[in-house]
Amino acid sequence: MKNIIINDLDLTLMRRLFDLSNKKAIITGGGGGIGLAIAIGFKEYGASEIALIDFHEDRLKNAVKIFKEMYNFEPLVIKADLSIKDQVEKAIKEVIKEFNEINILVNSHGIFQWMESEKLSEEDWDRMIDVNLKSVFLTCQAVGKHMIEKRKGGKIINIASMSGLIVNKPQPQCHYNTSKAGVIMLTKSLAAEWSKYGINVNSISPGYTLTPPLEKFLREHGEYEKLWREMIPLGRFARPMDIVGAAIFLASSASDYITGQNIIVDGGYTIW
Ligand SMILES: NC(=O)c1ccc[n+]([C@@H]2O[C@H](COP(=O)([O-])OP(=O)(O)OC[C@H]3O[C@@H](n4cnc5c(N)ncnc54)[C@H](O)[C@@H]3O)[C@@H](O)[C@H]2O)c1
Repeated sequence: MKNIIINDLDLTLMRRLFDLSNKKAIITGGGGGIGLAIAIGFKEYGASEIALIDFHEDRLKNAVKIFKEMYNFEPLVIKADLSIKDQVEKAIKEVIKEFNEINILVNSHGIFQWMESEKLSEEDWDRMIDVNLKSVFLTCQAVGKHMIEKRKGGKIINIASMSGLIVNKPQPQCHYNTSKAGVIMLTKSLAAEWSKYGINVNSISPGYTLTPPLEKFLREHGEYEKLWREMIPLGRFARPMDIVGAAIFLASSASDYITGQNIIVDGGYTIW
């Protein structure tokens, strides 16, 4: 197609703003609700290679099944506990060996827990911070190093949470909230350091999203369904699908001039 430039507008680029053709992506927590939805979204928008890293083997198997059935495509799957540095480095090394390069990293792994602060054990605090925050630094560091060496830039997207900005009502989860606030600040800090290498680092903060942990919780504690729904201006919980658009945006050239930002996808929860 002919490249048309009108008044400084590059129409060839404009037509391909959200295109992920030839992009090679890692999605951590790729066996989970939001991670898998983003991986499928990336495939729909043309990604050529997808690696899913998760420590839940059955979920990875299920993800492979879905990709094979839908696209006759086999993602690279790696089982790893991302809170352990050696496992992160081994996993990222394996992806680089298979793909030769990584253009996009999405950190979508994570755990949840309710516990009153006065009863929270040191072990539970450490586990939460290790899995939800330290691991995000470790994967960003391992992939960031590779992107810097390759000198081709890249896109890093960290899934934080609205809980990194507000305190959810009524759940006691100071360690979860703190981990997510940390992810948002880590994102800004890395964006500042790595912009000189052409690496954009942004985060997405979902609100209540119907993935397996929330679905299980609502099955067991139906009373929270109405309480939380009424706090959401758009009047419904998010589906994993609702998070995918922001991820495609941040992974594609549509967001080339955006870095260090946090996109809140919460049905308006945080505006009240
Ligand atoms: N569902 C929500 O309401 C909601 C809201 C805001 C933010 N988030 C965030 O979105 C992200 C995805 O959550 P989800 O709702 O899809 O949950 P999920 O449980 O469906 O997916 C999370 C995945 O992370 C994996 N994982 C957990 N610890 C890991 C570790 N140490 N190493 C490797 N993999 C690990 C799990 O096996 C799971 O497959 C999380 O960071 C979560 O905090 C979720």
